[in-house]
Amino acid sequence: MSRELRKQDHINHALQTGQSGRHGLDQVQFVHQSLAGIGEQEIDMKVDWADRRWEAPFYINAMTGGGGQKTKEINGALAKAAGAAGIPVAVGSQMAAVKDPGQADTFAVVRRENPDGIVFGNIGMDAGVEEALRAVEMIEADALQIHLNPVQEMIMPEGDRDFTGVLERLTTICRNVDVPVIVKEVGFGISMETAALLKEAGVNAVDAGGRGGTNFAEIENLRRERPVSFLNEWGIPTSVSIVEAASQSFSLVTAAGGIRSSLDAAKSYALGAGACGMAGHMLKLVTEQGWEAAAEELGEMKKELRTIMTLLGVRNMNEWKNTKILITGETAEWLKLRGFS
Ligand code: FNR
Repeated sequence: MSRELRKQDHINHALQTGQSGRHGLDQVQFVHQSLAGIGEQEIDMKVDWADRRWEAPFYINAMTGGGGQKTKEINGALAKAAGAAGIPVAVGSQMAAVKDPGQADTFAVVRRENPDGIVFGNIGMDAGVEEALRAVEMIEADALQIHLNPVQEMIMPEGDRDFTGVLERLTTICRNVDVPVIVKEVGFGISMETAALLKEAGVNAVDAGGRGGTNFAEIENLRRERPVSFLNEWGIPTSVSIVEAASQSFSLVTAAGGIRSSLDAAKSYALGAGACGMAGHMLKLVTEQGWEAAAEELGEMKKELRTIMTLLGVRNMNEWKNTKILITGETAEWLKLRGFS
């Protein structure tokens, strides 16, 4: 199957499987504070990172790559929504266009639709310095995401089976590209051990991409005659993954994996994320209702987040650490067993 068809399959299957919701954030609750004592006018939810300012602590996460008119349209729509909301947008894996420059326009459209916006490039764990440099240049990226997706590769019949040398390549890329490097998972989570290795490699930021949102095991299993079903349940829930990733001092740890509401986002900040990424939720909106619907949803999420911050007495993104939360169920158990409480 061609890469273009496979990417189209990913979009269709992601829309079909939806998001399972077992991200663990429902096991996190805020303790209400009747005397939070601040005013809505004091709320500042901007994120300053890598010399750029985000209007809100959200971004549209990496999705479509692989060329083709459909993916170009979706990328353009995602870029418009992100631009309207003043938040970053990541492109999907640019590996296809790095190998075949004829496909570069599928990605360049994101920069065209969002000329002054914040755009993240995206490459895979098999990429080296040359690929990284080309990906950044292709879209004048403000930062470069590198995705770790060993589970997905192992399920794909045509996927990689050899994951040696990844850390060495990451170290070299970090030393040689002049934009910040964000390492991300695609929905199986980042452990504290992985985070420590990434820190040592010189990675600037981590997207904790945990279990409980778009499930790439399920998506790839739909394409197999004999599914590797046990991998559908594999991975670190998003709630836990945020805490594990934040155990290392990166300039930014972001939450991803099933984020669909302002309350999910707020809980992720209380657990240690500085922003959160949404892929599946935004894909559904742009494909079913257009970019305006995604922009409107982001606007509503900002308003709701302002409400939550006012109620909790959180004036800015640095003050989430002062919130009082209760953690129950699998998330509490996991964190206890991993030595976090
Ligand atoms: C993705 N994701 C992804 N990630 C990445 O780093 N490179 C990529 O090319 C893709 N491709 C892709 C296609 C589609 C259709 C989807 C839905 C997702 C993964 C994405 O960025 C994110 O990590 C996961 O989807 C989990 O977040 P959500 O969807 O639960 O918000």
